[in-house]
Amino acid sequence: MVGIKPAAKVAHKVAPESRQVIGCCPDPANLIQAGRGVQLDVLKQLAHQSILSAEQFDRELLCEVCKLAAHIQLKQISVGNALHDKILAAAFFEPSTRTRLSFESAMLRLGGKTLSVAEAASTGIAKGESLLDIGQMFNSYADVVVIRHTEQRAIQELSQYLRISMINGGNGSDEHPTQAMADWYALLKWKPALGFGHLPETERIHLGIVGTPGNMRTVKSFLMLSLLFMENIREITIVSEMADPLGEEAHEFCDSSPLPIRIVSDLQEVIEELDVIYMNSIAYLGDGYRTLGTKFKLNSSSPLKQDTVILHPLARRDELSVDLDATDHNLYFNQADGAVFIRQALLLSIFDRLDVLP
Ligand code: CP
Repeated sequence: MVGIKPAAKVAHKVAPESRQVIGCCPDPANLIQAGRGVQLDVLKQLAHQSILSAEQFDRELLCEVCKLAAHIQLKQISVGNALHDKILAAAFFEPSTRTRLSFESAMLRLGGKTLSVAEAASTGIAKGESLLDIGQMFNSYADVVVIRHTEQRAIQELSQYLRISMINGGNGSDEHPTQAMADWYALLKWKPALGFGHLPETERIHLGIVGTPGNMRTVKSFLMLSLLFMENIREITIVSEMADPLGEEAHEFCDSSPLPIRIVSDLQEVIEELDVIYMNSIAYLGDGYRTLGTKFKLNSSSPLKQDTVILHPLARRDELSVDLDATDHNLYFNQADGAVFIRQALLLSIFDRLDVLP
């Protein structure tokens, strides 16, 4: 009898149910049940907009995008052809695994098409081409462009030349708004009351952030969105070796918030109190990547509370041990997995194709 022979070295058989990520995997239905149906009029605010900063979102808009993402994730609405006539350009002038691929995956799952720039060296930038001229080409070749760039100013500059929507996929050390949306999508699936309820004081979460909002774009955008949920957060503690990890802009939005924000230099001082730990250690600082010290590390021996969850935008280095991957503390794979559905929800809203909703 002729059968399929396993590969010589490794037989890798994929079971259909193995699609689920390992670690903590909260049900998207939790989020849908907690809120009312998706509010179309709220999502309509995003029609034909660019997404440049987390600042553009209030709590209601963010929660509606997350609810739409949950419907998409649960395949409760048919979206496979919604953007059949649209092209997304993913223009990454700085490396990426998740952001570029998840935007492309989101567009393809909506029936759209994608063009991709994986590195600056493969574009006219290598020949000294200006952002102005590159921007004109995006106008001609695509209907929406996702940009990642090493320079903070690139997003603002390109926005002057573009006549199509632009999504900030990370600009230097400034912002990464759609990453922060994916972070909150994971958290709202995990504990929907954070977005849709009013928790009693004893149940409000203590959020720990290991990293520096002043020079890590994911941390800054996450902190910005976290303040939208301050009613249900007891305290935020930032763990950093820097005396002032906030930086000028984060100071502005934190100083105007009534939420207590504590800064400590020793993770052990607070680790046993934290309900959510957001961790990052890689920052792009002007001319290259720095990992900000090895002082702060999490592994399966860390004294975490039983139901504490860990978020990490990834890529990770030694700060987050792989021995946490198979534990219920690991919300970081779910966070990365959910990014596709958040980006699908955003693209549908930006293109005003919400008629897919029941
Ligand atoms: N989270 C994130 O921005 O990952 P990438 O750098 O791989 O896109």
